[in-house]
Amino acid sequence: MTQFPRGFFWGSATSSYQIEGAAFEDGRGLSIWDMMCRKPGKVYEGHTGALACDHYHRFRDDVGLMKQIGLQAYRFSIAWPRVLPHGTGEVNPAGLDFYDRLVDELLAAGITPWATLYHWDLPLELYYRGGWLNQFSPEWFAEYAELIGKRLGDRVKHWMTLNEPACTISLGLETGVHAPGDQLAFPETVRAAFYLMKAHGRAVQALRATVTEAKIGLAQVSASFFPASNSPQDIEAARQMTFSAADGSFWQNAFWLEPMLLGHFPQDWLENHARTLEGLNLDDLKIIQQPLDFLGINIYHSRMVQAGLNGPEIVEFMPGCPRTMFKWPVTPESLYWNPRFIWERYGLPIVITENGLSNQDWVSMDGKVHDPQRIDSTRRYLIQLRRAAREGVNLLGYFHWSLMDNFEWGEGYSQRFGMVYVDFQTQERIPKDSARWYSKVIATHGAHLDRQV
Ligand code: FCB
Repeated sequence: MTQFPRGFFWGSATSSYQIEGAAFEDGRGLSIWDMMCRKPGKVYEGHTGALACDHYHRFRDDVGLMKQIGLQAYRFSIAWPRVLPHGTGEVNPAGLDFYDRLVDELLAAGITPWATLYHWDLPLELYYRGGWLNQFSPEWFAEYAELIGKRLGDRVKHWMTLNEPACTISLGLETGVHAPGDQLAFPETVRAAFYLMKAHGRAVQALRATVTEAKIGLAQVSASFFPASNSPQDIEAARQMTFSAADGSFWQNAFWLEPMLLGHFPQDWLENHARTLEGLNLDDLKIIQQPLDFLGINIYHSRMVQAGLNGPEIVEFMPGCPRTMFKWPVTPESLYWNPRFIWERYGLPIVITENGLSNQDWVSMDGKVHDPQRIDSTRRYLIQLRRAAREGVNLLGYFHWSLMDNFEWGEGYSQRFGMVYVDFQTQERIPKDSARWYSKVIATHGAHLDRQV
């Protein structure tokens, strides 16, 4: 039986603010997360990313750990304010040098770099100029993309423009639990989402102009759904839920993917919310829709759906069902159904750009970190991903979230997602049992998934 397709790659992912630290060093400008961490009550126990995993100073050792695990690819993000402290204009050479060195180190270790341009650390000065509500924000982002493309594009060929635009808008500007912590009215959030999508389009153009043979996508997240049974009716109900956009929620796939991949807003969304687009230039949809080489999907859990008498219905999970530290349900089916539905609708090759779980990890008396739940859960998810690949979904690779424990946004350091444990007092790294297990999965191209552990 085939395992994963030939060429399918194994990696893990991180992001700049969550691991780099060195927040006030070497000319880095401030980001909206530096501001958020100063707001009382916004981040668990007042934690900040000022030091985080101190990756800025320890990246060589961290690449060493990646090599030890056997990673074939590494997804990281660039901190916009580290390279452009004011967001536009004056460039910080020390910031660019850092990413240069990181990329060289990765390549020397035989690890393919996958770079994300925007993983939520907007330069603070751009926020003061209106952030994503400013009609010129797509041009700021294009300037930044061009700078990075020119500098790293000879060595970095795999790019993601945005990480999880739904989180940027919904968590950042609608509920305010993420930076910048605003609570805007619906029409304003739609406007910001529109400019964010245009920024994606402009960045794709800038990368195409500066990077030869670039492979470009974005890392999308959304509510996802799987059928309660294998009946055609339940499957259809789950598919409908996956692509409906009528309720105006930013967590719906179609709200983002139809404009970016097909060049129009979803019909059911327009029927209810078209008025919020007034004043926006809809010709910009031609910029928003750029040909992409892959679609990145970040996926952690899904909801279960069945066909009801009046349309699709959510089936709640049983009390006591397996849940992670974050209380997210463990739903391995997510890695089968979501890639399958998305592949069938859009026909773009898919990369799982994030998947993983937070776990109750600590150092045992034997000095090791045992995380059997992470192994068991990841094993279940990957078996479902393999099923999707075997049935013809075009899957290019998988990034586990995360390489190492890190600053989990509003949850601070209370949620550990890494395959490598980080002692945030000493900065010591300890590969967990899951890191050794993942090494075997990689070395056997997935065959190790069939071994009970
Ligand atoms: C995703 C984010 C990532 C991390 C994981 C747990 O939404 O992209 O930075 O926080 O969740």
